[in-house]
Amino acid sequence: MSDNPYQDDRGNKDRSITNKGGSSLETVDQRFGNSKALINDPFLIGDAMTGGYGKGPDILHSCTIAAEKGEIAVIVGPNGAGKSTAMKAVFGMLNVNEGAVRLDGEDITHLTPQQRVVKGMGFVPQTSNIFTSMTVEENLEMGAFIRRDDFRDTMAQIYDLFPILKDKRNQAAGELSGGQRQQVAVGRALMTQPKVLMLDEPTAGVSPIVMDELFDRIIEVARTGIPILMVEQNARQALEIADKAYVLVQGRNAHTGTGKELLADPEVRRSFLGG
Ligand SMILES: Nc1ncnc2c1ncn2[C@@H]1O[C@H](COP(=O)(O)OP(=O)(O)O)[C@@H](O)[C@H]1O
Ligand SMILES: [Mg+2]
Repeated sequence: MSDNPYQDDRGNKDRSITNKGGSSLETVDQRFGNSKALINDPFLIGDAMTGGYGKGPDILHSCTIAAEKGEIAVIVGPNGAGKSTAMKAVFGMLNVNEGAVRLDGEDITHLTPQQRVVKGMGFVPQTSNIFTSMTVEENLEMGAFIRRDDFRDTMAQIYDLFPILKDKRNQAAGELSGGQRQQVAVGRALMTQPKVLMLDEPTAGVSPIVMDELFDRIIEVARTGIPILMVEQNARQALEIADKAYVLVQGRNAHTGTGKELLADPEVRRSFLGG
């Protein structure tokens, strides 16, 4: 679980919750000050991000990814292109030397991942995204770690979305199939009732049928009004469901458009979709 995005700053939990009132006042001030610049800003945007890991070289070079309200945004690109790095940058897991991350018009570039969860970001990382030795239900409970209210309704909604998880709620998550584990991971992220959901390769290692099912569930989540920012290695299928799509190459934006536009782009087809 060393990749657990919440682990490092878990000690901040109480402080960030009690500070909530203060920071939302700042938001109001910021909004009045910046109202012009924020017109047409997507709901979540990593804007012209440049940065890398620790003191290492920059991996991202003025890279922009964003998700609009009610939409699914997809990021595709070759292995090592920086897709996961861009997602981690948006979630606050690495330093952005240049550029900014904004959520609903608020600059959150300097917030910790935990503070971003409190602000409404849900993130399912590419690896180590569940607690394998815990039961399905315990994983969902862990997902609700920032909540102090009654989260049983949310859990019931997640069991409606993924009925198999209800059947297996007392089983260790590590005993589930790949597709079911991904459902646990997505369900865990939904337990905070996020305003935006970020998914890094949610269909990795699952069969085409399971992939289609997972995409259907993700579309269902998007229709409830939660924008989705998703990295996918199944480029063609992902572009088919993408309202907006980004092709990243070597940490840079190579192509941006609607899913349809990129599917029709000869250069994208030749380089990334096998013709
Ligand atoms: N934790 C890390 N520390 C240092 N470099 C990393 C780390 N994770 C990824 N990288 C490097 O960043 C580059 C982009 O990786 P990544 O974002 O995982 O690509 P993708 O998700 O597109 O396959 C690669 O060169 C990779 O070696
Ligand atoms: Mg990756």
